[in-house]
Amino acid sequence: MSLLAGHSVALYSAEMPENTAYPSLAVGMVGFGMIFDETYRPCFEALTRSPLVLSGGGPVGIRLAAAATRTGSRVARFLRDSSTSGDSFANLVGDSASDELARSPVDAVCVATPDDRHFLAARAALAAGKHTLIEKPSVLSLTELDELVATAEKTGALAKVVYHKLADPDHKKLRTLYQDGVLRHVNNGYCSLLEPKSISGGQFAEWIAGRNPSTYVAVHYLKLIDFTFGPDWALDRVSATGQRGLVGPVDGPTWDSVQLQLVYRHPDGREAAFDIHTSWVTPDNFPGYVEQEVQFRFDNAVWAAHQRKRGVELTVEGRTPHDLKNTPNYHYNGTFLEPWGERSQRGYGIEVIERFFKEVATVEFGGPPAERPARLAAARALTYNDLSADRNVVAIVQASEAILKHAAAGRPGCVVKVNQAAGGLVLYAPGAATPEVLYPGRV
Ligand SMILES: NC(=O)c1ccc[n+]([C@@H]2O[C@H](COP(=O)([O-])OP(=O)(O)OC[C@H]3O[C@@H](n4cnc5c(N)ncnc54)[C@H](O)[C@@H]3O)[C@@H](O)[C@H]2O)c1
Repeated sequence: MSLLAGHSVALYSAEMPENTAYPSLAVGMVGFGMIFDETYRPCFEALTRSPLVLSGGGPVGIRLAAAATRTGSRVARFLRDSSTSGDSFANLVGDSASDELARSPVDAVCVATPDDRHFLAARAALAAGKHTLIEKPSVLSLTELDELVATAEKTGALAKVVYHKLADPDHKKLRTLYQDGVLRHVNNGYCSLLEPKSISGGQFAEWIAGRNPSTYVAVHYLKLIDFTFGPDWALDRVSATGQRGLVGPVDGPTWDSVQLQLVYRHPDGREAAFDIHTSWVTPDNFPGYVEQEVQFRFDNAVWAAHQRKRGVELTVEGRTPHDLKNTPNYHYNGTFLEPWGERSQRGYGIEVIERFFKEVATVEFGGPPAERPARLAAARALTYNDLSADRNVVAIVQASEAILKHAAAGRPGCVVKVNQAAGGLVLYAPGAATPEVLYPGRV
């Protein structure tokens, strides 16, 4: 038996799961695609082998108990191939599957559907009091973000988003050096993330119409910039352009590549500008599969990093660069034979999901029930993943989607300004007499 979120039960409670001496959390997945296979699946497998251990507390079991998808076929395959018992697993399918999952006795829900389908699933889960983790980008508008944060507040649940790049050791060091004043005053920088054609032409082909690669992947860097160099600065404006003609028609709403620029203002009035280039039409035989590079310039320093060139170059006849990569990033996710003999799969992409479960477990089981509100407040104060701290990223996503929509309708060159007298997100189109308010509240 699992314990419902909101029913605070201390570790020493009489309500323990059957056959174990410790409490457990039942988790439901909405969406069971590529990212489930890559990061959630190994996370659940590891947590099935050994429970979480809370700092200063005891063990807490984590069990994948349900999934909500459109067809259920990948879930059925997973149940066949894994040791997860189908008897105690709910494979929910169809249009109302995520609502059914929200009503089912799970304690937490992870939302890993395409990005324009996060909101409804997350709202249903939070309204039912389930702790919720959403894949990036959390949602596509500030109005949606406001609603999710308010719902979580009302039901006493955690609402969190996955940004695994913040757990990358190199990015942790970048932030440490900045926060410690070794790198002083960021002025500008660029980030690029280029996905192969197989993503736009195969993996995402079903839902790609009208979408762009920026919303899907630039957010990794939007969050990195916002979290690493903030919070004592203000987002000022956003502009974007891009190219069409490969994934969809040249005059259609589907984008091959996007160049996004954001400008922040430091408290001393100086500006910082960042260019983020994304694409999902890079050749499939590109050596590293996903090409990721950043450079940040400071008053006294330059930080340049390449995500896949971390020292390893590998060539295997007949296997690289397809099923093995030439320049792999084993820090994100890798399968290993550990020196002590175990097989494992680990990396920061998995670690960041495990952290969410640890935060949920700490809220529910990390001390006396009377102190749950304090534990909940402490978990919500973690700005690296709390939805309430995702405002600038969602603002940039909403602004860039609106700018690209205008460009596709024959009005390129729009700029969105932030926190103006007219509203929080205000779009200025060249030649238009009146600006368009995208979001009236403050960002
Ligand atoms: N953290 C990362 O690096 C990373 C990498 C890839 C994807 N993602 C994110 O994960 C999410 C999913 O991406 P993916 O690559 O796994 O996609 P995918 O296309 O491989 O899988 C999508 C899944 O969602 C399900 N689905 C679609 N609409 C649904 C609905 N209305 N209700 C319930 N289920 C529905 C599909 O059945 C499928 O199981 C996206 O938000 C994406 O941005 C994150």
